[in-house]
Amino acid sequence: MKELIDKLYKERNIENNALCQLIALADNSQQELYLFEKARQKKEEIYQDKIYIRGLIELSNYCKNNCLYCGIRAVNTSIERYRLSKEQILDCTRYGYELGFRTFVLQGGEDPAYSDQDICDIVRQIKEEHPDCAVTLSIGEKTYESYKAYKEAGADRYLLRHETATESHYQMLHPEKMSFKNRQRCLADLKSLGYQVGSGFMVGSPFQTMEHIVADLRYLQQLEPDMIGIGPFIPHHQTPFADKKQGDLHLTLRLIAILRLMFPNALLPSTTALGSIHPEGRKMGLGCGANVVMPNLSPLDVRNLYKIYDNKAYVNAEAAEGIAILKKEAEEIGYKVVIDRGDAKK
Ligand code: 5AD
Repeated sequence: MKELIDKLYKERNIENNALCQLIALADNSQQELYLFEKARQKKEEIYQDKIYIRGLIELSNYCKNNCLYCGIRAVNTSIERYRLSKEQILDCTRYGYELGFRTFVLQGGEDPAYSDQDICDIVRQIKEEHPDCAVTLSIGEKTYESYKAYKEAGADRYLLRHETATESHYQMLHPEKMSFKNRQRCLADLKSLGYQVGSGFMVGSPFQTMEHIVADLRYLQQLEPDMIGIGPFIPHHQTPFADKKQGDLHLTLRLIAILRLMFPNALLPSTTALGSIHPEGRKMGLGCGANVVMPNLSPLDVRNLYKIYDNKAYVNAEAAEGIAILKKEAEEIGYKVVIDRGDAKK
């Protein structure tokens, strides 16, 4: 097993069946520890002891889609909906800038109330006020023309998880109206427009198999994203997947480590979902190759409304105000949080 890990460390690639063996390593085994150690070593070769932070602004929990796993799906009438105004969003970035954020991630449900013009105005104004900051959009599937307009307005990056690279699995997680092909078209468009692109998938999503995970890794190799976000699936009680099993902590950690070895230059967040299933989850992610954290910078009164899954963490180290806690967590594992845009190394 050690040889497989060394091979992956050196060559960034191994064959499917070796990959499966690494994914399936036993929790807390010697081999798993070795995998984590090599991933940490690779992270330090490329990004030293730096941890990048992104201020996450959750624009709106209105969504026109009905992804089966997601708590803010359109048909969920039991939740309170909110939408931030342009001025509220700008206030978040002003506050975030003072706290040391140099990347702002505008994330939201697919809310048709924001026109392309609105998004462009917001992006333009953030870039005007904070020319030293990167703006990341994460607002879902759009046309090529929309993506182009956002880019021209100054957006630097775009996050859109592919969710699963297997079409039949994709269809089990999404309503018929949504298509695997359109998802992948979006990612290809974003790449061709010159965005720094982030993709990713949920670990332990319903019906996911080992083959699906391997297909996800192979798809990512083709896409060559700058950022890869993964986190455990967590059921939401008001969705069709309310009774499905939560994704596994150690499986997520092993996949972060494998991603670090396959994609040494990638920006890998230790996600809120990971921090939500274990009190030390986010710190553990940083200890196995992740190098990014995205604390919540949304206005306090809406922060607990953006519930895509149950028990989502949004206080302490998950909150922008909790940056001191985050710094301490990073220091405990020998890392430091830096004030930096944190672009991917090429
Ligand atoms: N559990 C974990 N992750 C989820 N996401 C959506 N719903 C859930 C859930 N129930 C992830 C999806 C989406 C990202 C914003 O959050 O992968 O792309």
